Amino acid sequence: MKEAYCEHIYSSIVFGFNGYKYCNSVWDGPDFIPYDEDDAWNKNEKRRVNIISDLKKGIVPPNCVGCSDLHYIEENHVQEVSINDSIINKITIFNYNHCNCRCFYCSVNSVYSGDEVQKSNFYDVLPLLKKLESNNRITNNTFIAFNGGEPTMLEEFNDIANMALDKHCKTEILSNGIVYNEMISKLLIDRDDSILYISLDCGTNDTFKRMKIVDRFNDVVLNIKRYVDDLKKAGKEPYQIRIKYIIFPNVNDNKKEIDAFFKICKECGVKTVARTVNHCNRNVNQDKNKLFLETSVIKSYKYFKEQAELFNMNLIPELWADVIVENKVYSCRKISPVTRLKSELHFLFGNKNKKFI
Ligand SMILES: C[S@@+](CC[C@H](N)C(=O)[O-])C[C@H]1O[C@@H](n2cnc3c(N)ncnc32)[C@H](O)[C@@H]1O
Ligand code: SF4
Ligand code: SF4
Repeated sequence: MKEAYCEHIYSSIVFGFNGYKYCNSVWDGPDFIPYDEDDAWNKNEKRRVNIISDLKKGIVPPNCVGCSDLHYIEENHVQEVSINDSIINKITIFNYNHCNCRCFYCSVNSVYSGDEVQKSNFYDVLPLLKKLESNNRITNNTFIAFNGGEPTMLEEFNDIANMALDKHCKTEILSNGIVYNEMISKLLIDRDDSILYISLDCGTNDTFKRMKIVDRFNDVVLNIKRYVDDLKKAGKEPYQIRIKYIIFPNVNDNKKEIDAFFKICKECGVKTVARTVNHCNRNVNQDKNKLFLETSVIKSYKYFKEQAELFNMNLIPELWADVIVENKVYSCRKISPVTRLKSELHFLFGNKNKKFI
């Protein structure tokens, strides 16, 4: 008999909005433990042990059936783990959704927080990270990803970053770049494989305001330059800084905007750019989980690649979506139908009137 295996169940933790999970897959994964339940942490760990023991018998949690991260391997290849003992390879911090920006397309339905640094929405992650650390479950192989609203607006951010530096962890930070934080540069300098994504998504002030509602284009450009300069001062080429562009029809899918984007990136000394599409697109065929893109987006997609070549920049071609240019179907894997629906509503009704938290 084959055993089932998922590395996330084994060695990941996601600090989600409402509780603890093991993965951020399109599949829902095992039911999560609400963070405010009595003894939630230990329950989550016990659940990990029990699921692994079930997987060894070929029993798969219902919400994992069909997930591409689930593998079947030869019997007796999966090791049992003990409670509070297994090494954690991936930590995803996703317990916050406040943000100092109001992007109309935001897939996390962020809450506008103005410029105030905020406590995470539901619970503090740092004590839980300290717990993992004291049980020697965080190593220099542990990858820490920030994946919620805006990490630079998170009260715990510097403490978590300090812990990542102490443990020499790999990190991935997704930021809108409105606020500069020197800890981010320290993390990039500490490890060559740590990454910072900054979502600029346009090349002009007007389009920025249209897409992100707030008037902070110049701040973002200035901060991109600061991060690039920090790396250069540390003797590094700034390849770890990836400036991102989501292509939206009738918004930024034109040559003028893309040209302006590349001009700014060049002026800032950027070496890596990333292109993507709206992964909450309306034109999704739910059955096949396929995303159909408009012709203008396909054209811009190609043009973006040509410009990256022209400016001699690294291109991260398909971020969070499988996209094949040449008028073919585009598949989009990384977002669950529920998130897509929420985001669709967000998209339709806009972000302008968002309340402060
Ligand atoms: C939710 S944001 C959080 C980080 C940060 N606030 C930012 O915007 O960069 C995480 C990433 O998802 C991207 N994102 C948000 N909504 C998206 C959408 N509808 N389609 C594609 N990417 C999206 C953002 O641009 C960002 O790179
Ligand atoms: S949904 Fe997939 S990635 Fe998530 S725990 Fe289940 S098998 Fe693993
Ligand atoms: S910057 Fe935009 S995409 Fe990122 S969390 Fe804020 S509103 Fe959402």
